[in-house]
Amino acid sequence: MTLPPQIKTPLWLLRQQLNTNPSGCLDAIYKSYGDIITIMSGSTPIVYVSNPLAIKQYLTNTKEITISSVPLGDSPITVGQMGQQGILHIEGLVHKNRRPILMKAYHGERMSASGKSIYELTKKIIGQQTLAKTFIAHELLSKITLQIAIEVVIGLREGERYEKINHLYTSCIKYERTSLFNIVKDLPFTQVNLGRLSPWGYHKYLLREIFEFLYDEVKERRQEADPSRTDMLCDLIFACDETGKTFSDEEVRDLLFLPILASRDGATHSLTWLLYWVHRLPDVRQQLLEELDSLGENPDPMKIVALPYLNAVCCESLRIYPSPIFSLPRVVISPVEIMGYKLTPGTVLITNIYSTHQREDVYPEPKEFKPERFLEKKYSPYEFIPFGSGARSCIAGSFSIFQMKLVLATILSNYKLELLNKGPERQEHSNDQCYAKSGIKMVMHGQRQHQEKRQSLVSNLP
Ligand code: HEM
Repeated sequence: MTLPPQIKTPLWLLRQQLNTNPSGCLDAIYKSYGDIITIMSGSTPIVYVSNPLAIKQYLTNTKEITISSVPLGDSPITVGQMGQQGILHIEGLVHKNRRPILMKAYHGERMSASGKSIYELTKKIIGQQTLAKTFIAHELLSKITLQIAIEVVIGLREGERYEKINHLYTSCIKYERTSLFNIVKDLPFTQVNLGRLSPWGYHKYLLREIFEFLYDEVKERRQEADPSRTDMLCDLIFACDETGKTFSDEEVRDLLFLPILASRDGATHSLTWLLYWVHRLPDVRQQLLEELDSLGENPDPMKIVALPYLNAVCCESLRIYPSPIFSLPRVVISPVEIMGYKLTPGTVLITNIYSTHQREDVYPEPKEFKPERFLEKKYSPYEFIPFGSGARSCIAGSFSIFQMKLVLATILSNYKLELLNKGPERQEHSNDQCYAKSGIKMVMHGQRQHQEKRQSLVSNLP
């Protein structure tokens, strides 16, 4: 076996550097060691790759490399807390069978149909902000993504049950952002469940409540047996596994957990960064507004999502600050050669999404936010890879971009917002996500009128 260059920094220190300064840490590693590196986790070599050719080589090699069923979580949040039969814990034929069933809710007509909900919800939530009062963008955006996720996944929009699940997930999000939880999460010896009032126990309690809620919902919906409903829960209840049997209630519950979690994590962080960039760069915002205004008042959501500059801005935001900076792991099952390195079975491969997106040879001036690059060039799926690629790629990539475009378009067209901090934002990394430490503080300055309306008001003046 010949492994790529090995990082000498102790794992605990590396993790700390990555969590407190993800870009700085990964930029320094790339500069010193190159685009394929090894980090040892005990006796397991973990190879991180940010070379598009190598990424293509191993993501398209299904003979010698497979998806791993066990998330390499050093983080206890990703290990064992998502239900034993959740999508991240399964592989092979079982994974192949469940994946398209989960994907159905996030594609085609279902995706287009959620455009109206995204628009209405964004208007309602942003419109509730008090004038001139500071708000945290991440908090507001997570309300939007969570509500949309609950609707798509379990088909609830309002009512007591909807409030309950919303409350549980919101409490979990809030708690996971507290300093107390972030200390406990990194110190295994503090992870003792001493009941609801203990730091670790409280998190366990919230997760247990969420699982119980989902389980009751599955049981009840199975009794209702209404195939006309169009949500993921309904798809799972009426689907069959690879042997032709229907899924058990526990299986359905476990499969439902991650999609809601992923929506509030990946989607919220990506939207927060998007709002930040657009409000940090007045020229980008102005160009976007002109493009949006060209559609007239109250445009069809499908016309909005087809706008080229809006698409370029969303892609550039996902490029410069991808929220998951690493892909899920793949594992070598037969000896294989990648970029001249001979890897033996058991070696783990992870795509370093952030460093791939920062390559100067692919993205000149990578630290600059330049949406034009996505208008001028089409990037391969191994160069621009915010949703991963291959058998474990994100099941909701298209939906997430669709949602990003509609939320941003609704906010920009209807409201005047301003960033409180005009400078660079400090990043942090935890739970496999990279986010703005402050949550991005913004101020609401009121409603915005559509360009045409403003012009007609001016021309009607005496
Ligand atoms: C902008 C928002 C999002 C980003 C940037 C994102 C990114 C990613 C990435 C990088 C992966 C790993 C891909 C790989 O290893 O090749 C992934 C996997 C996954 N994502 Fe997302 N994601 C987002 C939103 C969502 C949403 C809304 C859902 C809700 C269903 C979701 C569900 C999943 C699932 C279930 C997987 C694992 C798929 C499998 O194991 O087969 N993600 N996502």
